Amino acid sequence: MKDNNHVAITNLSKTYKKQNSDVLALNGITLNVSRNEFLCIVGASGCGKSTLLRILSGLDKEYNGSVSVGGTKISGPGLERGIVFQEHRLLPWLTVRDNIEFALQTGTQAEKANLIAGHLKLVGLAGFEKAYPNQLSGGMAQRVAIARALVNRPDILLLDEPFGALDALTRLKLQQQILAIWEKEKTTMIMVTHDIEEAVFLGDRVVVMSERPGTIKKEFEVDLLRPRNRSGVAFQQVRKEIYREFYADLM
Ligand SMILES: Nc1ncnc2c1ncn2[C@@H]1O[C@H](COP(=O)(O)OP(=O)(O)OP(=O)(O)O)[C@@H](O)[C@H]1O
Ligand SMILES: [Mg+2]
Repeated sequence: MKDNNHVAITNLSKTYKKQNSDVLALNGITLNVSRNEFLCIVGASGCGKSTLLRILSGLDKEYNGSVSVGGTKISGPGLERGIVFQEHRLLPWLTVRDNIEFALQTGTQAEKANLIAGHLKLVGLAGFEKAYPNQLSGGMAQRVAIARALVNRPDILLLDEPFGALDALTRLKLQQQILAIWEKEKTTMIMVTHDIEEAVFLGDRVVVMSERPGTIKKEFEVDLLRPRNRSGVAFQQVRKEIYREFYADLM
């Protein structure tokens, strides 16, 4: 049975308390994500996208409203949710292998070695166990971060502009790779991006957020078969519609 409310966010608001003034970052977000769905979130800088992902990851527990996964309210970070940030956040003094092992919670040495090798293979980095982060390109480091986020076999992968800092060609390659991982692992994906084309290429659904305080402005179902043709008429049509919505505030 399709689980339409695998992630259920209801009337979520978030205020950052400051000494002199409070910042309302999110205002009344209601959003459900189905199991296995690939959801993309786009929105202007500062509209609360990272705030939303941090709340979903359990790193930020101070909010109003309700956020649950599989019917259970989120009360902190959990192994069923992995997160990838815009910067890779690898520890520079640890090898690739040790960076991933650092995140791994259970298993014997042999099991861990197997899991690490398997996940490096999944992101196309077999054999890079002994490299240090400064010996990797930006795209490779980000793929290690993805392997690290997946190694505990999460149900949900939260991706906060994971390819934002990468060059266009690397970004295209990693988009293909994240789709392949999604198809293989059946992970529910929630990905923030500022790149509308990326959102249309990847997403089953694209959610457009308003400027701060962030609300859900509009949702678009992307009903295009995969692999998607970026230059196709249908693709461009969806891209244009989202683009129009995205920039409506600015025009
Ligand atoms: N720790 C914090 N303390 C106070 N205000 C914060 C904090 N983190 C974020 N904010 C504010 O909350 C709002 C939303 O920030 P957030 O980082 O979620 O935006 P974003 O959509 O991820 O932006 P970007 O696209 O630039 O990454 C911003 O106005 C920001 O200044
Ligand atoms: Mg952000």
